[in-house]
Amino acid sequence: MSVQSSEKAPINRAKFATNLGVLAATLGSAVGLGNIWKFPYLTGSNGGAAFLLVYIVCILLIGIPVMVSELVLGRAARSNAIATMQKLAPAKQPWWLIGAAGVLAAFMIMAFYSEVAAWVFAYIIKAIQGGILSTDPNVTKAAFGDLVSNPVQSLIWQWIDLAVVGFIILLGVNKGIEGATKKLMPVLLFLLILVGIRSLTLPGAGQGLAFLFQPDFSKLTAASFLVAMGLAFFKLSVGMGTMITYGSYFRDDQDIPGTAVRVAFSDLAVSLLAGIAIFPAVFAFGYKPDAGASLLFLTIPSVFASMPLGGFFMVIFFILTAIASIGAQISLVEVPVAFLQEKFQFSRQKASIITVVGIAIVGSLAALSNSSLASAHVFGMTFFDLFDYATSNILLPLGGLFIAIFVGWVWGYKKLNDALSNHGTLSNQIIIKVLYGTLLVVTPILVAIVMLNGLKIIK
Ligand code: PHE
Repeated sequence: MSVQSSEKAPINRAKFATNLGVLAATLGSAVGLGNIWKFPYLTGSNGGAAFLLVYIVCILLIGIPVMVSELVLGRAARSNAIATMQKLAPAKQPWWLIGAAGVLAAFMIMAFYSEVAAWVFAYIIKAIQGGILSTDPNVTKAAFGDLVSNPVQSLIWQWIDLAVVGFIILLGVNKGIEGATKKLMPVLLFLLILVGIRSLTLPGAGQGLAFLFQPDFSKLTAASFLVAMGLAFFKLSVGMGTMITYGSYFRDDQDIPGTAVRVAFSDLAVSLLAGIAIFPAVFAFGYKPDAGASLLFLTIPSVFASMPLGGFFMVIFFILTAIASIGAQISLVEVPVAFLQEKFQFSRQKASIITVVGIAIVGSLAALSNSSLASAHVFGMTFFDLFDYATSNILLPLGGLFIAIFVGWVWGYKKLNDALSNHGTLSNQIIIKVLYGTLLVVTPILVAIVMLNGLKIIK
């Protein structure tokens, strides 16, 4: 792989058109099923508030610094994830492996993510039909069980999701990504707030709030530290080249640290809203907080069932959740697509089709994990769980670790300072110094310790 080959690529690199568009697209990548599906279920199965605190520390000391690093590297090289690392690294050093691991991670995440999106799509129809609108756990559990144990439905909804994502990615960076996110994010927020208010006013809601906000540190284990860190990587779409790729479309005058901080806090706010919508309901209706991947699909219908016009709002809720998931999926698919386009000079169309078909093939393993392949286990996990675990808890943290080391120790302060201050036009010296110090020492050490402990490599 040589740098020249990617520079020759006869494409005009697109750029996000406006500063608001940049924020919307980056936020569109971060906000997705991670907030609405994964954050609540992991918080639920890892004990609640104490886990939330660890997660927030991970965002501050790991997530934000790595996000800034990725964005600035991508903008400096204006290339896909692999070529960016090739261009910026000293000759013969294999830093491009970070980008290669990212392309792999994109496929593995999409494999299970597209299946969760498939469930959301299926729930739009179920919501329209009305059968799931119930406060009875037996009814909601049966509805979810019927869906995931049906191999045909699992596959078809996944293909529908992939077709939608593939189509949008074909439209290109500006039109596809910016347009959709800017308009729909506020509506989703409004709905989450509405569900949150209803959930908070349910009898017994207090228990759910206490679960989410009153930490009990005895519930934390080495494994849950790793899960919290993995969630921070996953949530902020970092550690795998998504933000390198998006950074490559950033404008030269964009304030990168400012954007990263805004994205991280807005993303956290959406997750908290989802938590506030779900946990009071968990306790009010007699669900278990550690229900796992099904948590969202059980509790949310029960909240809607107990509010006026609930059936209508639930349809809108699942439509908006599907749209949020699409923003995130576009950013995942963009990693291999940008790479294929630039490395092999494929047209955007060809690159998109190859990528989406590849995902459909790997993704079928995840789609069938609750039906035909339910008894197929690798390292004791179904394919769905394996893809999820291996990406969040191994691939993304490893990617983040090496990105931090690269920026801190190889790229160095001078280049970082020049790039993050937009060649001296922004006066953000203190922020840059704090970021640099964190990247140099804190981020790598924390990631390494949490990984080694969580994976039981050291005790
Ligand atoms: N951040 C997205 C979400 O929470 C998922 C994602 C992960 C997107 C990694 C891109 C890269 O839904």
